[in-house]
Amino acid sequence: MSRFTITGTDTDVGKTVFAAGLSQALRATYWKPAQAGLEGETDSEAVARLAPDATVLPEAYRLHTPCSPHEAARVDGVTIDLAELKLPDVEGPLVVEGAGGVLVPYREDLLAADIFAHWQLPTILVARTALGTISHSLMSLEALRSREVAVAGVAFVGEHEPVAEGAITRIGVVKHLGRLPMLEPLDSQTLAGAFSTHIRMDLLA
Ligand SMILES: Nc1ncnc2c1ncn2[C@@H]1O[C@H](COP(=O)(O)OP(=O)(O)O)[C@@H](O)[C@H]1O
Ligand SMILES: [Mg+2]
Repeated sequence: MSRFTITGTDTDVGKTVFAAGLSQALRATYWKPAQAGLEGETDSEAVARLAPDATVLPEAYRLHTPCSPHEAARVDGVTIDLAELKLPDVEGPLVVEGAGGVLVPYREDLLAADIFAHWQLPTILVARTALGTISHSLMSLEALRSREVAVAGVAFVGEHEPVAEGAITRIGVVKHLGRLPMLEPLDSQTLAGAFSTHIRMDLLA
């Protein structure tokens, strides 16, 4: 069964765009458990726009402030509860997008990677190719593995940087799932085309 958690080395690395490409390719159900920041387009709205054949579920938590979920929840007077983050009981492929990076707190005693470990889904790490990515990527892989989260691979976003991509995949002993270039324009058609050209779905089977 194709069920994946999507995490990243940081916020704004391209998790939502990758998750949309994957959701469209798999005709998956997409779920963003906790959305922090409701102004402008939410991640679920972006996926609905970029992945017309995906099914987008409502978020478990819709928090107003665009910051770490633990703080966004505090501002809204909410405590994030692991029971509310139960994986949705849906048939078929599922793509779940975490907030921010691997050690982002949902509560001070509940980090993103703890939730991924609880779900036990293979996790895809989305990483930039730009300078700084080697350390961020290797740290993210260590944090995932120290919690026994299965890593399905790394998906890169940006210009082709063979040195960085090679270092991460070899030192991190992780599959290179491909690299999405920056798309201009970015829409459902350009994303589907780039995804099928550049992303190794065969490695996710
Ligand atoms: N492959 C891409 N091509 C063009 N724009 C992209 C691509 N990946 C990400 N972006 C843009 O970069 C920004 C951050 O991407 P997003 O997927 O929302 O990151 P994250 O979910 O990690 O916070 C968004 O404005 C998004 O449209
Ligand atoms: Mg996102």
